[in-house]
Amino acid sequence: MKLLKLLDLYCCQGGATRGYQAAGFQVTGVDIDPQPRYLDINESFHQADAVQFIYDRLTWIRETFDFIHASPPCQFDSDCQRIRSNEHPDLIEPTREALEVTGIPYVIENVSGALSKLKQPVELCGLMFGMERTYRHRYFEAGGWTLPQPHHPRHEAPQAKMGRPPQPGEFIQAVGNFSGVGLVRADWGVDWMNRDGIREAIPPAYAQHIGEQFRSHLDALRVAA
Ligand SMILES: C[S@@+](CC[C@H](N)C(=O)[O-])C[C@H]1O[C@@H](n2cnc3c(N)ncnc32)[C@H](O)[C@@H]1O
Repeated sequence: MKLLKLLDLYCCQGGATRGYQAAGFQVTGVDIDPQPRYLDINESFHQADAVQFIYDRLTWIRETFDFIHASPPCQFDSDCQRIRSNEHPDLIEPTREALEVTGIPYVIENVSGALSKLKQPVELCGLMFGMERTYRHRYFEAGGWTLPQPHHPRHEAPQAKMGRPPQPGEFIQAVGNFSGVGLVRADWGVDWMNRDGIREAIPPAYAQHIGEQFRSHLDALRVAA
């Protein structure tokens, strides 16, 4: 399997990074905050503003990376703490603009509250990957390539009420000060993460799927050439 290089913008503790690593990518993470737990799974990390990082290192980025993942923090979704927009400007649009300048294929990931800001997003759910206690819908805009929409299995089990420990048979809601960090670690395979990282993260299985789909896209291009 050819080693591909990926830039993970807004990497946090590395939910996405872990999934891309499983799909055979060598990952470089960027986050505005120090992320000591990220360094437990990946040694290549830059502390920087993600959009500025792209413009500052454009030539190096174009020469180095095959693919870029970006998870700008949400501010519109009911799952997120509501924060004043003048303190936390919307980062989806400036991130997309910077990604387009690189010319490198990308995905932008976000939550349901940002759906109107994403172009033709694909929805992923834990049920698509055999996860036993997680729905966690997340949305992915693909740029410069096409990400197919997988079949979405029907939800049968209820979700735990927000802030309450999940009861037997309930699915986990990893938002806010949720209970059940150990359950999430086991279901997602994120044993290095704490609660702060988990509530921000995508399950690695989602990123692994995207990485594998991107590899299939490259294979199809090669066959067609
Ligand atoms: C939703 S989390 C990303 C989760 C990650 N994709 C995962 O799967 O674990 C968003 C991250 O963006 C970071 N962040 C916020 N503003 C940023 C900026 N301007 N530049 C870079 N990172 C930023 C936050 O520190 C946070 O770690």
